[in-house]
Amino acid sequence: MEFSNRLKDLPTQFFASLVQKVAKAIKEGRDVINLGQGNPDQPTPDHIIKALQQAAENPKNHKYSPFNGTHKFKKATADFYKREYNVEIDPDTEVAVLFGAKIGLVELPLTLMNEGDLMLLPDPGYPDYLSGVSLANVEYDTMPLLKENQFLPDYQSLTEDQKKKAKLLYLNYPNNPTGATATKEFFQETVELAGRYDIGIVHDFAYGAIGFNGQKPPSFLQVDGAKEVGIELYTMSKTYNMAGWRVGFAVGNSKIVEAINLLQDHLFVSLFPAVQEASAIALLDDQTCVTELVELYEGRRDTLIKECHRIGWDVEAPRGSFFAWLPVPEGYSSKEFSDLLLDKADVAVAPGNGFGEYGEGYIRVGLLVDEERLREAVQRIEKLGIF
Ligand SMILES: Cc1ncc(COP(=O)(O)O)c(C=O)c1O
Repeated sequence: MEFSNRLKDLPTQFFASLVQKVAKAIKEGRDVINLGQGNPDQPTPDHIIKALQQAAENPKNHKYSPFNGTHKFKKATADFYKREYNVEIDPDTEVAVLFGAKIGLVELPLTLMNEGDLMLLPDPGYPDYLSGVSLANVEYDTMPLLKENQFLPDYQSLTEDQKKKAKLLYLNYPNNPTGATATKEFFQETVELAGRYDIGIVHDFAYGAIGFNGQKPPSFLQVDGAKEVGIELYTMSKTYNMAGWRVGFAVGNSKIVEAINLLQDHLFVSLFPAVQEASAIALLDDQTCVTELVELYEGRRDTLIKECHRIGWDVEAPRGSFFAWLPVPEGYSSKEFSDLLLDKADVAVAPGNGFGEYGEGYIRVGLLVDEERLREAVQRIEKLGIF
């Protein structure tokens, strides 16, 4: 059997070889500290699991459920946006239920673009954006995220041609991989650009809950006019440690929501209603679990950054997400430095070039092991005598 060209053309998973290398080292009995992945290490809070258990026992949830998601869950997402961001969302027309944010990110080019159309993607950026580019057979240009611009794209440096041609523009703050956050002023500038050039904005808010130093990351939808030009994708994966549950949602522009729902009518039936019921409870119940999670990540961040500074590594603290974006020392490429850390220190990190050309010169470290292991990772790096 031969695979279709569509499958043959899918981008290779840059990090697959890293995952294999780490697995091999662990199999050899090496004590690898794995800071390379983005899988939340904490369990889903108990009250959410209990809600799923109860919902799973309800026979009503064993039947086919509304294709476009249950009203209860969509209403919960609207109430959540009102409570957290003071944004009004119509649960019937402005919410699409997703099998995780990734599926939405891949579906959007399929729903809103024709072959050969142009989209604009951040570089460095979440590699899975390219899956949608490939499946929809569209073109993309990158917007460099540079340190001197606080890792925000500089719209002035887009050409007139790019702005006229672009159908979709992806943003992601708090940002994977740089840990940068956006401001409302930047989102305002984005809405203006989108309005002037008729570009659809997709804000990937996967790390929306994770902001440090007491700063709550803004939602794109908090800016006037955002709903006219775009959509925000939220996931339960990070805020509530529900990555394995596969549940998220898109909120905002009703036309985009309609497009997602139309495609999903053909691709899926619906997400298990018990999962939607438990997700609604996660969004609406007491949010102490979220506050505690952010504190946990912030504590880890502080430990990592303090240790790096102690050994003479000049790094900056991320403002959000659960990643730190660390510059590689002079004389190494991202890949060389990552290989060295794995081979000589048993510390796995993600080389920055895997996130795009402008990720070169950095590594991404996940704050997904406890403080002691983070400290030990830096101590092992210290022993290499580089800093
Ligand atoms: C930037 C970004 N967007 C989206 C996702 C996907 O999240 P989900 O689990 O909802 O598919 C991730 C997951 O790592 C991510 O880092």
